[in-house]
Amino acid sequence: MSLKTMLAASAALTALVAAAPSAQAQGSLTLYCSVQEELCRAIVTMFEKDTGIKVAMTRKSSGETYAQIKAEASNPKGDVWWGGTGDPHQQAAAEDLTVEYKSPKMGELYDWAVRQWEQTKGRTVGVYSGALGFGYNAKLLAAKKLPEPKCWADLAKPEYKDEVQVADPNSSGTSYTMLATIVQVMGEDKGFEWLKKLHKNINQYTKSGAAPAKAVNLGETTIGITFMHDMIAEAQLNPDIKTVAPCEGTGYEIGSMSIIKDARNLENAKKFYDWALTPAPQSLGAQNKQLQTPSNKATPLPKMGVDLSTTKLINYDFAKYGSSAERNRLLAKWDKEVKSQPK
Ligand code: G6P
Repeated sequence: MSLKTMLAASAALTALVAAAPSAQAQGSLTLYCSVQEELCRAIVTMFEKDTGIKVAMTRKSSGETYAQIKAEASNPKGDVWWGGTGDPHQQAAAEDLTVEYKSPKMGELYDWAVRQWEQTKGRTVGVYSGALGFGYNAKLLAAKKLPEPKCWADLAKPEYKDEVQVADPNSSGTSYTMLATIVQVMGEDKGFEWLKKLHKNINQYTKSGAAPAKAVNLGETTIGITFMHDMIAEAQLNPDIKTVAPCEGTGYEIGSMSIIKDARNLENAKKFYDWALTPAPQSLGAQNKQLQTPSNKATPLPKMGVDLSTTKLINYDFAKYGSSAERNRLLAKWDKEVKSQPK
């Protein structure tokens, strides 16, 4: 090899090394993730590969993550909070725990995702949406000679004693969405009567919102209340699972993303935020059994997902039920009047 060729080869190698995103050069990002573990991991893997930024990820439910960010407010450890229901993201925004950011990708999003951003003065944005519902294990239901539940009202009937599972609304955004939905569908007094009756039918309040869908699959509970897309995902593994859109109509979530105030890695947080609003990472849900409706219009809708345009949705009041005062009040009332009651 001539000296000239050697020099050219060495220059090409140097250019290649410089172009490859090295973790050291790109720094790091601490991500709080509030969907299921598989999707959180897939997002981390793709982001690290695309950018060379090293990610430290913690997965916790929506209410738990909100509580952690609040507890860490004087010494924030997280940079971005991705996923989980919108209400605790809104509460974090109102309590000045997250910061305003306008991504250049905003124009690519559905209106519901942008509305979430507008309502919080730019502090949180919609990354996906999903409708609440329930599901049951048809084999178990038949073996127990129980009727098929079709409506929210059915789930509080005495024949379903110990047959229903749902998460605790303090830790889980799914369950808080149920609490707020019931209050909006039935009115507060009747809604709390229903919740007290439902309490007698609950075999376990789980920490995470999607856990009851897995329990229906495993036959550990006959009925589970979750987002419909979580039940549909389990039904792909177990054809005995039936998913129900409640007859009265149902609430829904705007799964959200926020940048944490005083983030140590603010520039990387913005890079993640812009990236997470693009179709490639938004397609990871469908590839990981998580069938929410993604917020970028160009992301293909998951084939087995819920068609929100044909689901009977209530006019969910996100501003009210995501406000600190209302969320705190409803959770305290649920603790006192429902959870602490004997069964
Ligand atoms: C699941 C759903 C998400 C939802 C999340 C909320 O992962 O697929 O759509 O946002 O649960 O989790 P949580 O545990 O807070 O109810």
